[in-house]
Amino acid sequence: MPAADFVVVANRLPVDRVEGPDGEETWRTSPGGLVAALEPMMRSVHGAWVGWAGQPDVELDPFEINGIDLVPVALSAEEIADYYEGFANDTIWPLYHDVIAPPQYHREWWEAYVRVNRRFAEAAASVVASDGTVWVHDYQLQLVPQMIRELRPDVTIGYFHHIPFPAHGLYAQLPWRDQVIKGLLGADVIGFQRAQDATYFLTAVRRRVRYEVKGSAVTVPTEDGGTRTAVARAFPISIDTAPYKELAARPEIRARAAEIRASLGNPKKILLGVDRLDYTKGIRHRVKAYGELLEDGRLDVEDVTLVQVASPSRERVDAYVHLRDEIELAVGRINGDNDTMGHTAIRYLHQGYPREEMVALYLAADVMLVTALRDGMNLVAKEYVATRADNHGVLVLSEFTGAADELRQAVLVNPHDIAGLKDAIMTAIEMPSGEQTKRMRALRRRVLENDVNAWSSSFLRALSDVRTR
Ligand code: G6P
Repeated sequence: MPAADFVVVANRLPVDRVEGPDGEETWRTSPGGLVAALEPMMRSVHGAWVGWAGQPDVELDPFEINGIDLVPVALSAEEIADYYEGFANDTIWPLYHDVIAPPQYHREWWEAYVRVNRRFAEAAASVVASDGTVWVHDYQLQLVPQMIRELRPDVTIGYFHHIPFPAHGLYAQLPWRDQVIKGLLGADVIGFQRAQDATYFLTAVRRRVRYEVKGSAVTVPTEDGGTRTAVARAFPISIDTAPYKELAARPEIRARAAEIRASLGNPKKILLGVDRLDYTKGIRHRVKAYGELLEDGRLDVEDVTLVQVASPSRERVDAYVHLRDEIELAVGRINGDNDTMGHTAIRYLHQGYPREEMVALYLAADVMLVTALRDGMNLVAKEYVATRADNHGVLVLSEFTGAADELRQAVLVNPHDIAGLKDAIMTAIEMPSGEQTKRMRALRRRVLENDVNAWSSSFLRALSDVRTR
């Protein structure tokens, strides 16, 4: 494989290895916002993608799929438990999402995180061409920028943080808080979803390592006694809008949307929630508010159905096991109390679906509920908007998502306020058609103009600006 001028480093490869029905090995695109966001760009630029194939102990040589060079990084079962399920998803994930679940701090997990980050950095350093560019992604790999810099001082390094960065009062809990900041500062540009995330990071830089910060620029001391500049600022991510627009226009997808409505007993209004089954997504709050609206008689099960798609995620982490039990108990109770033979209160689906089916669901949904307690961006909100070329449908959107900074014409809610959430759901259900159109037009303008290509171009432009300075 020739040296690559442009290398993406992410925890996951954009494919998963799966066994076919006859035991043969095939590859399929893996789930997750990051993959959806970067795939289109990786097809247009000749580059390499360093990542994990999603299974334990799989040692694979680099290979090519759909014009992308893939460089697999192997993880043992123990490393998956300590680095991925442990430090990434049971320490950093809850800490960075405002401690919605309590973060666990274990020294062995940290050691595995350092070891695995070094493996990713070495893989990237060995495939990148001289004076090339490496773009590192997300909280699983926060030490990789500095590790690559030590191995390959010639390359330009970008880092994008897809999840929130917490306020200093919370960040300060992390026993390895200084090491993580220094790891990130190995990048020339450190991108965040919201301006607030960048501000919190720069505060942590000032308070912890005491480097000079001016605006978005950090003066970082170098080994030779000199300094270099690292820039930290917001680059809100988006989606590739074209497939959503295209699928929404297809007659068979529109027919599928009508079929979904009919199979739910043609309720007057369909509400929709689409999330990974994660405690940050506010699924419990949403279900509670909806259940109370039925109980209060403000909604009637004959008129309305909530479709909740909760795709399985991180199923071996305790907090996720408990969350699933809680949600399924709540859904079962609400359905038991309200269902009739022909109508269900909540159609709960613990499954993932292909994009075609998601677009049909978005078209069928009169109200889209995005009630995350904390979310870096939330691409589902943008997918819904991109799909609604008919300028109908209402987006209810949590203030605690990155998307809320941009999608101001949504019905914005504080999901912790159950009474407010109930009112917001009623406002969405009762919104007149003209008002829906006015809001959806403005939302669509925003999402279609600021798509994933605009995002990656602006990040890469900032990266080349810093390097030529
Ligand atoms: C979030 C993270 C991604 C991650 C995805 C799926 O969107 O920001 O980095 O890939 O969740 O989670 P998983 O643990 O399955 O990779």
